[in-house]
Amino acid sequence: MGDSVNDVISTENLTKVYKVLWSRRKVTALSNLNISVKKGEIFGLLGPNGSGKTTTVKLLLGLVYPTAGSVHILGKPSTDVEMKNNIGFLPEETYLYKFLNADETLDFYGKLFSIPRKERKRRMEYLIDLVGIASARKRPLKQYSKGMLRRVGLAQALINDPELVILDEPTSGLDPLGTRDIKDLILDMKNAGKTVFMCSHLLADVQDICDRVAILNKGELQVLGSVTELISKTDILDISVKGVSDETLMNIKGIIKDNNGEVISVSNPTTTLEELFINVVKDKDE
Ligand SMILES: Nc1ncnc2c1ncn2[C@@H]1O[C@H](COP(=O)(O)OP(=O)(O)O)[C@@H](O)[C@H]1O
Ligand SMILES: [Mg+2]
Repeated sequence: MGDSVNDVISTENLTKVYKVLWSRRKVTALSNLNISVKKGEIFGLLGPNGSGKTTTVKLLLGLVYPTAGSVHILGKPSTDVEMKNNIGFLPEETYLYKFLNADETLDFYGKLFSIPRKERKRRMEYLIDLVGIASARKRPLKQYSKGMLRRVGLAQALINDPELVILDEPTSGLDPLGTRDIKDLILDMKNAGKTVFMCSHLLADVQDICDRVAILNKGELQVLGSVTELISKTDILDISVKGVSDETLMNIKGIIKDNNGEVISVSNPTTTLEELFINVVKDKDE
C-alpha cells in the first residue's frame, strides 16, 4: 500500500458499486483498488472498455463517492477543495464550448481558477504555443478536428499550472501522428515536473511513455509495475554474440567462450504490452 502523505495519488481499497436506476441490479465498477502514484511519474491505468478506468478517475477527482475505501491526492482526501486547484483534468469526452475559440476557452477556464488577468494572458500564450494551435486560436472550436480539440483540452487542463494532471483517454480518436504529438506533450508535462495519471485502452499509446502501468479488468487490478518489468520474459535469455560460427551459436555461453567467441550481452527479451494485456484479460474470462 502507498504512503498517503508523500504520494501524489494513493488509493486504499477503493471500491465503487453503482446502483442501476429503476432496477435492483448493482454494478461493481471498481473493487479494492490499491495503487500509489509517485511525484514526477507518468502512471498509466489500462484496461478494456468498461473495466473501471473512468470510474477511478471520477473517484480521484471527487466527482463520485467511493462505496468503500478512500483516495488521497497530494496527502489530502479527494473532497478537499483547495487540493483541486492543484489538479488538471482532461475528461474522456470533449466538453468544451463549441462556440468559443481557443483563446476564449482558456480565458474562461483561467477565470474559473481566479487567475489574475495578466497572468492569464501569459499562460494562454504559453499554452497555445505549447499545444501547437496558434494558427487556429481565433476559430470557434466547432471547426476544430478531434486532434485539435484534444490539444485545446490539454491546454485547458494545464491553465492552473497543476502539480497533477489526470487524463482520461487522451489519444482516443486520434490518428498516429496526432497520437505522437499528444504523447510528446505528455512527456513535456513530465519534464516540467508534473505528475501525470492517464487512462487508456490503447496500449501502444502508453507503452513508450508510462513509467508504470496498472491493468484493470472488470474493476479488478490484474498487474502493476514498470513497463520494462512487466514485459520482460524472465524465463528466457537473449544472448547476443560476435565472432562465432552458426554451429557455435547453437551452444551455451560456456561453449561460446571455449570457442573464443565473445558474449556481448545477456538480456531478457520482451513481450509486448499488448500480449501481456491480452493474457491477463483473457485468463479472467475463462
Ligand atoms: N453512472 C453509472 N451507473 C451505473 N453503471 C455505471 C455508471 N458509470 C459506469 N458504470 C459501469 O461501470 C463499469 C465501469 O465503467 P467505466 O469506469 O466507465 O469503464 P472504462 O472507463 O474502463 O471504460 C461499466 O460496467 C459501466 O457500465
Ligand atoms: Mg472510460
